[in-house]
Amino acid sequence: MIFFLDTANLDELREAASWGVVSGVTTNPSLVAREGKVDFGSHIRAVTEIVDGPVSVEVLSMETGPMIEEARSLVPISPNVVIKIPMTPAGMGAVKVLSSEGVAVNVTLIFTPQQALLAAAAGAAYVSPFVGRLDDIGEDGVGVVGDIAQVFSMQDIGTKVLAASIRHPAHVVQCALAGADVATVPFKVLKQLFHHPLTDKGIEKFLADWEGYNKNHGR
Ligand code: E4P
Repeated sequence: MIFFLDTANLDELREAASWGVVSGVTTNPSLVAREGKVDFGSHIRAVTEIVDGPVSVEVLSMETGPMIEEARSLVPISPNVVIKIPMTPAGMGAVKVLSSEGVAVNVTLIFTPQQALLAAAAGAAYVSPFVGRLDDIGEDGVGVVGDIAQVFSMQDIGTKVLAASIRHPAHVVQCALAGADVATVPFKVLKQLFHHPLTDKGIEKFLADWEGYNKNHGR
């Protein structure tokens, strides 16, 4: 399983990119809106210049034709742009046309394996099941990721399972065990993944022992 960063914040992207573990980015209208007044196209271009990998950018139109037009206007921003389209009948019509043109599409707001199968049938490159939002309503988000991964594997479907709406480090491991191809994680969760008190304690001890050795040997 590889990691994408779920943010539109350039500082977070720069810092996380320097850690060497981020293979792509997902944005959505809420995340871009959080960045305040930005020129949308330039902002997305800046994101693509920081992380060398797929960058999902969501369309805002709700009808098939306008979705396709919007997607076609976003694709030239960078060869790494992946078009994010919501799971609706109109959306799947757009996925069919765009995927036949060679555009990579990430179908977002997936909450069931049935929806994932429809997205794959339309030609999606990625499906994004929203783990945290399912948990929020008392359902089993990780279970849905596992069911989708299992069905795709049994049916030999090449669409990638991109676990989204990740809320904490345990979700990351659970999604990996469930067979997700990608986890898109918020900056805060990515940072949490690095830490363990025994790692910090171990580093402190190694450095202290080395300092003691140098003192004892007059260095
Ligand atoms: C995925 O692509 C979405 O941007 C994101 O993971 C949604 O997460 P949320 O439920 O925390 O808003």
